[in-house]
Amino acid sequence: MNYNPFSLEGKTILVTGASSGIGKATAIECSKAGAKVWLTARNVDRLEQTAREMQGEGYRIVPADLTSAEDIQHLADTVDVLDGVALVAGINDKMIIKKIDDSFIARMMSTNFAGPALLIKSLLKAKKIGKFASVVFMSSVSAFYPSVSNAMYAASKAAVNQFAKVLALEVLPLKARVNCIQPAFVETEMIHKYGEEALNEIRGNYPLGRFARPEEIAYAVLYYMSDASQMITGTSLVIDGGYTLR
Ligand SMILES: NC(=O)c1ccc[n+]([C@@H]2O[C@H](COP(=O)([O-])OP(=O)(O)OC[C@H]3O[C@@H](n4cnc5c(N)ncnc54)[C@H](OP(=O)(O)O)[C@@H]3O)[C@@H](O)[C@H]2O)c1
Repeated sequence: MNYNPFSLEGKTILVTGASSGIGKATAIECSKAGAKVWLTARNVDRLEQTAREMQGEGYRIVPADLTSAEDIQHLADTVDVLDGVALVAGINDKMIIKKIDDSFIARMMSTNFAGPALLIKSLLKAKKIGKFASVVFMSSVSAFYPSVSNAMYAASKAAVNQFAKVLALEVLPLKARVNCIQPAFVETEMIHKYGEEALNEIRGNYPLGRFARPEEIAYAVLYYMSDASQMITGTSLVIDGGYTLR
């Protein structure tokens, strides 16, 4: 028998943001660990590309815009009862506080905070969060480590962190668990907006001399999804290569 305490064999997991970056890596790694994966994001072509890179046939695609109440309801109604939910979708638009307005705040908060919060609410109401399920929110070191132009992103991720802790209390009757992951820079499309020159400079200042690869964040999701982490709830794992040490 193959001994693997991190196996996801027999588990059904929903991954948001599965069309790109960390969400795509999470979907692929969960499939390699044996899970059936429900993939969601807005871009169907890119979701199908993720599916092509996954292992096995155990996947389903449900396109959804997480800023749309209708799409969230449809997603919650369509998925099977879940052993895991990885809430990875998010945006990182920058604006100094002097320039922010209602629509910028609404866009950042609805994608990064209200979307995941309302999806969880709908899944709970539809009884799609199974017994012993694991919920993982993709937060960010920005929630505690400030940087200029990042106020709304930081606020949205800090909101996610605290929402996750309250959720962890409220799903105790299901013996379900809720945790956050807080990466610093990860090599995905999200960071391209900085431009290669600026990125090289920031990379050079990272204690380990590089940013994380998307897979390195997905491995942490895998751990939280697996039975190996059954005693862990209400926590947040920083994955930053030592960046916030100084
Ligand atoms: N990359 C980093 O350095 C970094 C660091 C810390 C935390 N994070 C967090 O990690 C998560 C994933 O980021 P990433 O780096 O993988 O970014 P990415 O490559 O830009 O992927 C973002 C994902 O979110 C989805 N998405 C965006 N808006 C959406 C909406 N309204 N409805 C549904 N899906 C939506 C996108 O899919 P569609 O466009 O197809 O909808 C895409 O799959 C985010 O929550 C981000 O804040 C990233």
